[in-house]
Amino acid sequence: GKVAVLFGGHSAEREVSLRSGAAVLAGLQRAGVDAHGIDTRDYPLARLKAENFERAFIVVHGRGGEDGTLQGALEHLGLPYTGSRVLGAALAMDKVRTKQVWQAMGLPTADFRVVHKSTFKAEDAAALLAQFDGPVFVKPSHEGSSIGMTKAADAETLARAVEEAFKFDDEVLIERFIEGDEYTVSILGEQALPAIRLRTSHDFYDYSAKYQSGDTEYLCPCGLNDADEQALGALSLAAFRAVAASGWGRVDLMQDKQGRWWLLEVNTVPGMTETSLVPKSARVAGLSFDELVVAVLAMAY
Ligand code: DAL
Ligand code: MG
Repeated sequence: GKVAVLFGGHSAEREVSLRSGAAVLAGLQRAGVDAHGIDTRDYPLARLKAENFERAFIVVHGRGGEDGTLQGALEHLGLPYTGSRVLGAALAMDKVRTKQVWQAMGLPTADFRVVHKSTFKAEDAAALLAQFDGPVFVKPSHEGSSIGMTKAADAETLARAVEEAFKFDDEVLIERFIEGDEYTVSILGEQALPAIRLRTSHDFYDYSAKYQSGDTEYLCPCGLNDADEQALGALSLAAFRAVAASGWGRVDLMQDKQGRWWLLEVNTVPGMTETSLVPKSARVAGLSFDELVVAVLAMAY
């Protein structure tokens, strides 16, 4: 039957989704699937209903696609779709509540504070920073691709970083900065795929390191011994399930200098450009890009 590849949307990650969507569409078509691309910015619901689609592959990143709203609309239409259900998508898109769930379950995530646009004052920055014993990371609670994120080591930078993050979100997360290496673990069904270690010359794996500059190194296999890789996979799966995510996705973590793991976030609609992380890790597990998208689609319900 007909498959709708839903991409684009309105979020700050629209440009990334256009690339992910084109790649997924092409991969499904090469695999012989009757797939059609639909930009969700263009009010797709009437079309989904009218044109007898059988399933939807969601590849919209960020708000309006990865946050439960599109999933809810598809539930209403009775159209099977890929990836997390409403709750998992909504929870994973919310970094603050994701961390609260992990903390409650005893899963490791860095200490944090939350500030709100309606109450934050620049003069609060010094007192906030004093609650951490080093630099912090400032993040809009509901964004992806490192949009609106800044590292801050002094009160003045922190105040500016919070104002910058408020451009994207009324709720902002201030998180202890973990000095170490960034890793990411792709999840496919009930399985953690081989982890990737990211090495960037940037201060952190920011938007430009992700999509624009060619100087990020992706190590997969990541160099951990088998036992550590297994433990990392198990931790990532636990973190994924803790936020009710399902189907497929990607868990981002840091490893500090002492070898401890710190969970950063879950992406329920991770990047799917030909050079993105999930396809890289699938390839190491023996799955081509086309096989990967077919496997994700096969789990739609
Ligand atoms: N939010 C981007 C698309 C990612 O996680 O890959
Ligand atoms: Mg993300």
